[in-house]
Amino acid sequence: MTSKTHWENVYSTKAAYSVSWFQPHATLSMQLIRGTGIDHDAAIIDVGGGASILVDDLLAKGYTNLLVLDWSLAALDAAQSRLGSSANRVHWLEADITAAILPTNNYHVWHDRAVFHFLTSREDRRAYVDLVLQSVKSGGHVIIAAFAEDGPTQCSGLPVMRYSVPALQAEFGARFTLLHSQQELHSTPFKTTQKFNYCHFRLD
Ligand SMILES: C[S@@+](CC[C@H](N)C(=O)[O-])C[C@H]1O[C@@H](n2cnc3c(N)ncnc32)[C@H](O)[C@@H]1O
Repeated sequence: MTSKTHWENVYSTKAAYSVSWFQPHATLSMQLIRGTGIDHDAAIIDVGGGASILVDDLLAKGYTNLLVLDWSLAALDAAQSRLGSSANRVHWLEADITAAILPTNNYHVWHDRAVFHFLTSREDRRAYVDLVLQSVKSGGHVIIAAFAEDGPTQCSGLPVMRYSVPALQAEFGARFTLLHSQQELHSTPFKTTQKFNYCHFRLD
């Protein structure tokens, strides 16, 4: 399990564009979210969104009902500073996703890039999946991007779980129907690459 202190330290000492997971645009995430065909006012949560540019990309495409959740206040501050006055159009929540309280049956899209893979204990993964089941609408979309089975063994200096598509599907369970999966070779700012598996599930 990762700690809040770790993440506050990362985001207080490093520029958002200098961390290994930085993307200038969240291209594949946007492609998958737009591909769901949800309305522009549908509720979208970016779990562990950090200082990701995804929220900027969603606002630019006209999505209006956005929540960025992260354990690190420094991460949320960085995203808000970047957005300027547009930050007022987004909901922000500082919380640990394994203990967060979210509205029931609320989200049309749950998006997580590079967060679930930090949950190395079975209890934390169970708590996470239970929260998805409780807070995503039936028929809603769950998009999870985690390091692939042959991806890196660490992220931000912390140990991670690595997932094949069937392993990620098994972790979430029978109520999650896999609609699409895709690999991405992410290029880090240090000119290395990291293999991700993106899974797009429908919650039945
Ligand atoms: C590798 S970064 C990915 C950030 C973002 N999703 C992206 O793709 O740019 C992991 C993020 O998850 C957040 N995080 C880690 N553990 C968390 C937890 N238990 N609850 C909420 N956020 C968490 C960190 O603060 C960090 O912003």
